Amino acid sequence: MDPNSTIAKEAARRRTFAIISHPDAGKTTLTEKLLLFAGAIQIAGSVKARKASRHAASDWMEIEKQRGISVASSVMQMEYRDHVINLLDTPGHQDFSEDTYRVLTAVDAALMVIDATKGVEPQTLRLLEVCRARNTPIITFINKLDREVREPLDLLDEIERLLKIATVPFTWPVGMGKQFGGVIDMRANRMRVFTAGEDRAAADDEVIDGADDARMTERFGGDWKTARSEIELLEGASHVFDREEFLTGTQSPVFFGSAINNFGVREVLDALVELAPSPQPKPASERVVEPTESKFTGVVFKIQANMDPAHRDRVAFVRVCSGRFERGMRLVLSRTGKDVKTASAVSFLSQRRDIVEEAFPGDIVGLPNRGVLHLGDTLTESGEALQFTGLPFFAPEIFVNVDVADPIRTKQLHTGLQQLGEEGAIQVFRPYQGGSLLLGAVGQLQIEVVAHRLEHEYNARARMTPSAYKLARWVSAEQPADLLAFLEGNAHRVAHDVVNAPTVLYAHQSELRAAAEIWPRVQFHALREHS
Ligand code: G4P
Repeated sequence: MDPNSTIAKEAARRRTFAIISHPDAGKTTLTEKLLLFAGAIQIAGSVKARKASRHAASDWMEIEKQRGISVASSVMQMEYRDHVINLLDTPGHQDFSEDTYRVLTAVDAALMVIDATKGVEPQTLRLLEVCRARNTPIITFINKLDREVREPLDLLDEIERLLKIATVPFTWPVGMGKQFGGVIDMRANRMRVFTAGEDRAAADDEVIDGADDARMTERFGGDWKTARSEIELLEGASHVFDREEFLTGTQSPVFFGSAINNFGVREVLDALVELAPSPQPKPASERVVEPTESKFTGVVFKIQANMDPAHRDRVAFVRVCSGRFERGMRLVLSRTGKDVKTASAVSFLSQRRDIVEEAFPGDIVGLPNRGVLHLGDTLTESGEALQFTGLPFFAPEIFVNVDVADPIRTKQLHTGLQQLGEEGAIQVFRPYQGGSLLLGAVGQLQIEVVAHRLEHEYNARARMTPSAYKLARWVSAEQPADLLAFLEGNAHRVAHDVVNAPTVLYAHQSELRAAAEIWPRVQFHALREHS
């Protein structure tokens, strides 16, 4: 493909990323500030409105009534320094982490936000593991330097130890809390001086070039000396930035700041433009797809209920993997070979949602649809047989039996469960030997949300009763006869999921261990990738 083609040029200026963090580290605040700095101010308010979602099921449901907000702020597009930056939101509540994992399959880089008062927290660790498994490049932002925080060297050490990623500080803090003086740009021997306040742009910051020790010590006292000696230490011991290592996710550039005070935010945007990669080639079962290919390809990585519950439309979020998307173009759904209409495609260019008619690799388009598109589906312009891989489903840990409360509404309940299953809101299992359907979730909140949605969106109240099962494994075997023998021999505890993948259910880990010994030719998978 000609590197000067429109597609190649547009792909080259795209950056698509998500923020990973533990709740309260400052993701919402930083998202708002990034949008603000890139000039997409209107949408910033809706980010905060969405935030209530993580606190409790009731809040989540309340906010979900305003579907417009959640759909619109799921993908935020901004232009900065002639680049188009797509920020994909990830649900904050850990019960929705499955959804988050899937969003992470659609990005080319991740921004990890660490609360400097706390260091590495559990959810950051889990999310980072997913990024590492996919070699996603990570930029680190250490937030809340305006508070009394942990020693910066300790924080770096903890990140390296717990997250197994080498750190390369690009900025270094002088002081912290009330004494926070600002950050030294490690490459340019320049210091950006901190002033508190939310109403400033970085252009107003005082920047001291060619910092000489005497003058700086006079102004920042012992904090300057400490910062200088820490930097000296780092210069001797720390890693040198290596783009290749960054691009494979083994080394992370680190920035310090205070999101709430708009401080350090511009450095993060600059790092996204200068360091983060443009859209990367995507593996499919058949071949690897290059973003610069002339024909459109895309993958559905998220499905979300639409703004109008009365119509039960759902928006399928499609990541453009190659070519050019144009509203109205005819696409082919690989799984069925059928055409998909795109005339009502939703795009997410911040406030200018209505005028965007085309999209390029790295961009996200929303296709309203009524159950035609499933998670993991591949769409192509050419109709070639292609299935993108890598969309993960995780083995659930919480199970309930579900029955219809009102038998007349059986059909609605089944429709609802089918659709919510396809959306990935919950996993639905059909027992091999019949009987009640089983719902499997990673977190309890998922079950509550599904019960609520069944009642309100499908007018079908569900009766949920606890199940003895505590873990599930997808099963496979090289020889079909081995799998069949296993399924027959374990029929009472086998079920099929929404895509008919066979699953075995256990109440105790020990049962799984025993089964693995008895059935050595059967593989037990805690994760299913769409294929
Ligand atoms: P999250 O999306 O990762 O959960 O975090 P969020 O941005 O909501 O931030 C969590 C809390 O941390 C918020 O306070 C927020 O104001 C605060 N915060 C974010 N960045 C900074 C910072 O740079 N310095 C300091 N000191 N605080 C910061 P809150 O009281 O929970 O909420 P709010 O009442 O301020 O909205």
